[in-house]
Amino acid sequence: MAAILSESILQDFDPHQLHPLQHPSTHANALVVERADGVYLHTPEGRKVLDGMAGLWNVNIGYGNQELPEAAREQMSRLAYTSNFAGMTNVPSSQLAKRLAGLAHPTLNTTFFTSGGSEANDTAFKTARYYWQRLGRKDKTKIIARRSAYHGITLAATYATGLSRYHTMFGPPLAGFLHTIDPYPYRLAIAQQAGESAGAAAARALAELIEREGADTVAAFIAEPVQGVGGVIVPPDDYFPLVRAVCDKYDVLLIMDEVICGFGRTGRWFGSQHWGLRPDMLAFAKGITSGYLPLGGLQISDAVREVVLSAPASEMWMHGYTYSGHAACCAVGLKNLEIIEGSALVERSRELGAYLLAQLQPLREFECVGDVRGLGLLCGLEIVADRETRTPDPARATAIANACLARGVRTRAVGNSTLALSPPLIITRAEIDHIVQTFGAVLDSS
Ligand SMILES: Cc1ncc(COP(=O)(O)O)c(C=O)c1O
Repeated sequence: MAAILSESILQDFDPHQLHPLQHPSTHANALVVERADGVYLHTPEGRKVLDGMAGLWNVNIGYGNQELPEAAREQMSRLAYTSNFAGMTNVPSSQLAKRLAGLAHPTLNTTFFTSGGSEANDTAFKTARYYWQRLGRKDKTKIIARRSAYHGITLAATYATGLSRYHTMFGPPLAGFLHTIDPYPYRLAIAQQAGESAGAAAARALAELIEREGADTVAAFIAEPVQGVGGVIVPPDDYFPLVRAVCDKYDVLLIMDEVICGFGRTGRWFGSQHWGLRPDMLAFAKGITSGYLPLGGLQISDAVREVVLSAPASEMWMHGYTYSGHAACCAVGLKNLEIIEGSALVERSRELGAYLLAQLQPLREFECVGDVRGLGLLCGLEIVADRETRTPDPARATAIANACLARGVRTRAVGNSTLALSPPLIITRAEIDHIVQTFGAVLDSS
């Protein structure tokens, strides 16, 4: 059967669809993707684009793998779905929970499944509040996040998200969500004290916010290991150990949002492991299935589990989604983890991430490149209007991203004005070279 051409899709069919973050100006020339393999997307007209973003930071094992559809087919023909509410369970969700036990940290052994990252974070916020209610500390309800945080798009996740462009149009903010500064050495939002590192200053800002609000009112602090949508912000190494100490001091739960960083993206199974962190809860999604089916979840520590499960039935944790522990999604998750492990993709991300970062560094020769940073296969090139003042230049970052796409390489302008790279972990050195050459050619001509 002849493929339906992009023009027809965009004119005859797609206008019936409301897209995420849709605006006519960004959607008019949408890329119609008909199929994909490896790191490449293909249009109906045969145009090939190297996907430097792995979809939305999630297609970790790359496109076109045939083992995942086979795992889905096998599971769906046996049992596609059944309720996983208490009183029932299924085989793949139990097995996947067991597989995840201890993978991020020895104290994270219990998983609640969701369909994506926003639901995982909502679950974390409710569980943090529940935890303190159960312990009789009923005023501990506030959630602190960072100003450039992105935690998703459900109502609560929207207001945990610090980036104001995601909420100003939806009316007054939800009460109880606060934001502290980012551990962003290139743009640190407070003055450092004498001898104080950027990481220590950012951790101090968190402590000061907790003090101002009153520790008795703060339930949890949520943070991405590396902030993705906020601009690929890689924290200084001393930041998270200091944050853990602050959380311990003030009895504040630490929620790590590993929705982007989980499953090898940063060169470890989980980003938190770079700093030996002990999260109280850990949210994941995206890379758990490499995006082949929707799945996310929240891991809770043994201590949190103890509090959740010891409640009397009348006060039990009343939380669950229809698709919690979806059998087919969990079967695909299990197979995906097998592939990540069997193909040593975590190690590959570490090695090729270092290569990508090293290849990107010479692009600093271009006046508009203010900073180059990354961890594993998660890198960012910050574009500025002026190097001295570090003035962001979002229009230029978007124009560069568009020009790269025109030359067959997909990147995305995020944060202030940072070009993100988060390719499938199967990417080769030659494909990385192609991305960097394309960036260089575009920067040269812009
Ligand atoms: C760090 C982070 N948390 C949460 C989310 C939300 O996940 P989802 O879109 O699956 O709800 C995202 C999505 O990009 C994310 O980057």
